[in-house]
Amino acid sequence: MSNKIPAPIDATHTDAWLRLNLLRENLKPDLRRWFADNPTRAAELSFTAGDLFVDLSKNLINKKIVQELLQLAEEVKLAERREAMFTGQHINVTEDRAVLHTALRAPADAGLVVDGQNVTEDVHATLEKIYAFADGVRSGEWKGVTGKPIETIVNVGIGGSDLGPVMVYEALKPYVRDGIECRFISNIDPSDSYNKTHDLDPETTLVIVASKTFTTLETLTNARLVRGWLLDALEAKGAITPEQRGAAVSKHFVAVSTALDKVAEFGIDPNNAFGFWDWVGGRYSVDSAVGTAVAIAIGPDNFRDFLAGFHTIDEHFRTAPAAENVPLLMGLLNVWYVNFLGAASHAVLPYAQELHRFAAYLQQLTMESNGKSVRWDGSPVTTKTGEVFWGEPGTNGQHAFYQLIHQGTQLIPADFIAVATPARPQQDEGVDVHEVFLANFFAQTAALAFGKTAEEVRAEGTPEHIVPARVFEGNRPTTSIMAPALTPSVVGQLIALYEHITFVQGIVWGIDSFDQWGVELGKKLALEIAPAVQGDNAALEAQDPSTQALIRYYQANRTR
Ligand code: F6P
Repeated sequence: MSNKIPAPIDATHTDAWLRLNLLRENLKPDLRRWFADNPTRAAELSFTAGDLFVDLSKNLINKKIVQELLQLAEEVKLAERREAMFTGQHINVTEDRAVLHTALRAPADAGLVVDGQNVTEDVHATLEKIYAFADGVRSGEWKGVTGKPIETIVNVGIGGSDLGPVMVYEALKPYVRDGIECRFISNIDPSDSYNKTHDLDPETTLVIVASKTFTTLETLTNARLVRGWLLDALEAKGAITPEQRGAAVSKHFVAVSTALDKVAEFGIDPNNAFGFWDWVGGRYSVDSAVGTAVAIAIGPDNFRDFLAGFHTIDEHFRTAPAAENVPLLMGLLNVWYVNFLGAASHAVLPYAQELHRFAAYLQQLTMESNGKSVRWDGSPVTTKTGEVFWGEPGTNGQHAFYQLIHQGTQLIPADFIAVATPARPQQDEGVDVHEVFLANFFAQTAALAFGKTAEEVRAEGTPEHIVPARVFEGNRPTTSIMAPALTPSVVGQLIALYEHITFVQGIVWGIDSFDQWGVELGKKLALEIAPAVQGDNAALEAQDPSTQALIRYYQANRTR
């Protein structure tokens, strides 16, 4: 194997796995009794990581299970793998790359040198360049081609070059400077670029084209569409002459990429480009130059706090004792649910409207990372991997899908996330609305854990034939995560927490959580099918019957 990364240890062959199987067989989940029998259960299973208070006590675990899960981590040599990541070994085996998103938020004196590159120096030099640019845009010193200051940032990117910046921008809206708005174009559906640009003033718009590879079809197409819109709109209002189109691009387009040569080919001045490195995975990149839109919106000081938040959790993950290590425990808990209790999905339910894109962000982070069927040595996985992550902010989810979590037949572990101090406090008839909101959070996690017995339902005078429908079994596992407020640092901490949870699961399953070969086939086929869609009959005939029929339907029904 390349880079001397040892072959994965098969978790299912460890002693801990066998003992966990026995524990599962004898498990009789009874959170009511477990809490009644042990008055200190909540305290024993609550932990702190940075500003995050994490209560694991409403999970289907006991001391013995936690002990064996930690033993499992030892047996698969999780600590060694973690150190391999932090020190820049090429743990992304299939792409032969280091995995160093943790270096993006390490302090300037970290002094990390990997593969002959002074990673820390490079990271901080780029950060200073981004901060200077962000300051220039925020102060109005950076002007559009007609001399007007920038008011709207349009980020064009997809996947990791979109989901992170959108999610963080939304999460930190209260920190966004008045007079600056960010919009995000990702989908190649032309409606997306139209909807995000048609009402903008091109004179005050700055476009960031964000693409790690600078080859992604969606992003390059959208970047060309937006460039066309911006230049045409400037010309149409007489703001520039046709000869000034190039000058307008240099004032209104910047790029974020690892491929600065391709940025230049696109026509963006490499001086207006912010680089990053192949050891930053797309879904781990919001803390790199990919966060430039966010850095402009919230300002360099807040962005520094955001990065410091990540680093706090990195340090915790790297150094906290295993029994108190929150990402380690949460990652192992997910293994417990997926591999021993049969969970196929995991809900993430933020009780903070600002986190309304958090689940979407986590879907790429977790599912592109751990949706794999082979291990990093190419051998098949030996157990289930990659549960589905999903969610919506509370209380919206309560009125939509919580029914299934409460009374359905599937086990769905859920993470509830809330902050003590709201971003936008409001009173309704003398009542603090945040308190009503949080009461829902607390009520839901209690109801899921403790349920409602038939006796309790009957005691309410419920007619007997309705009693079964109103019984809540309880024992539906939840983790509660709370923080003082949704500050830039806390947002960074939450992201890093889930990054490391994802890492832990990947190591137990023996998979390379940092490649994404599974998205390649569809991309390639789309390119092959495009001529068929555009009317090339030979290409159409080469498709399977179902695809041919769909394309014919399209051709018959398309109006122009
Ligand atoms: O969907 C595959 C993927 O490669 C993601 O991993 C990545 O975040 C996204 O495409 C966008 O890639 P790029 O930043 O290179 O445009």
